[in-house]
Amino acid sequence: MKVKSSFILFLVFVVTISQSSFVTDKPSELAKLMKQMLAYIQQEKKQIENNQTALPFPTNLQKVSKAKITAGKKLVNEHEKYVRNFFQKLDVYNSTNDSSERVVSFNLMVSSCVTCHKQECPGPIQVIEKSLFKE
Ligand code: HEC
Repeated sequence: MKVKSSFILFLVFVVTISQSSFVTDKPSELAKLMKQMLAYIQQEKKQIENNQTALPFPTNLQKVSKAKITAGKKLVNEHEKYVRNFFQKLDVYNSTNDSSERVVSFNLMVSSCVTCHKQECPGPIQVIEKSLFKE
């Protein structure tokens, strides 16, 4: 009997530990979307360099607005404004065809990733800025 109950306690302990974010450390919904957005701008830069048509964007405004963020991280009051601003720059980018205008509107779109990141999540800024076309 004693052995049994301590075994159950042990099981409860293992399950609790393995489910805590401390151990699993799964990326948040927003972090997953952001990774796809980074992959998109990196690939899209190549599309422009090779004069190929724009790829579909991997997510949308609703999903980005609603996505859960990593526990402990904070969004600023203007978060929605930054989200809308980004998607507006993306629309402008998608409506330009001329190759020099495409470079300009692409840079504006990538800069609006950075504008939000300066407020909410400075870590990836350098990686994001690598996708900018140098003037
Ligand atoms: C409205 C603000 C905002 C905009 C716009 C934005 N981001 Fe983010 N980004 C965030 C926040 C907040 C996080 C942290 C998410 C979390 O940890 O839950 C993040 C996280 C990331 C990450 C780290 C993901 C990881 O592995 O944890 C990358 C990379 C990233 N963003 C790239 C981009 C790129 C590229 C763009 C533009 C195409 C962009 N972001 C636009 C707010 C923004």
